[in-house]
Amino acid sequence: MKKLENKVAIVTGGSGGIGQSICQFLAREGAKVVINYHSDAQEAQETQEKIQEVGSESHIVQTNLAKVDQIENLVRESIERFGKVDVLVNNAGIEKRADFWDVTEEDYDLVLNINLKAVFFATQAVVKHFRATNNPGKIINISSVHEELPFPHFTSYCASKGGLKMITRNLAVELGSMGITINNVSPGAIATPINQNLLNNPELLQKVTKNIPLGHLGEPEDVAALVAFLASDEAKYITGSTFYVDGGLLWNYQEQ
Ligand code: BGC
Repeated sequence: MKKLENKVAIVTGGSGGIGQSICQFLAREGAKVVINYHSDAQEAQETQEKIQEVGSESHIVQTNLAKVDQIENLVRESIERFGKVDVLVNNAGIEKRADFWDVTEEDYDLVLNINLKAVFFATQAVVKHFRATNNPGKIINISSVHEELPFPHFTSYCASKGGLKMITRNLAVELGSMGITINNVSPGAIATPINQNLLNNPELLQKVTKNIPLGHLGEPEDVAALVAFLASDEAKYITGSTFYVDGGLLWNYQEQ
């Protein structure tokens, strides 16, 4: 039997990058997947086709995650379509580079709304469903090495990921008695559209890879494989933890 047979998973930001790979890996293990996306309908369709290829079902929901009523609708529609939800992967994320003194309120709000507030309220909506159905479900947040590591010019991003670390620790305690688990998967530099600037800049890319002990960027699949494991019953005793998928980046220090 596949690891996620009869499970239903919602993946926010499931149309591209790491999210698309997560959708595929969950589906490959037998899960039905709700592909949530914001702006790229064609990419969402592509994700759906990839899920079909591995023999599972999916449903696409367009959502502005900055709006709590739309988040609630995402969860409601998922339950209507597949009868229940077992796994929520809070994957959608956004970053804005700026010198601290130039950060606008608009960009600050966008980053915090998507990376932190949306995770809070999507998790709340799903936990209400878990409680109502007595289902010990699983929450997985895609965080970042930057829930620990400073990233100059990305202070709002770091604030959001640091917040995510404490959401996870807090809810692991508060929801533990219901059997609900919550964990963070924290990528380092992965070759995805969020890193397009980096990928287009060979000089910067060389600097970044020099900081990575394994010597290269990660692939979305490196992250997705761990998410599929954490979503499965095999991970039933794991909660409140952060798992880094970063080629050794976070704890790298060398005198040279
Ligand atoms: C960020 C990337 C960055 C990586 C490593 C990720 O969380 O989204 O922009 O390259 O961390 O610093």
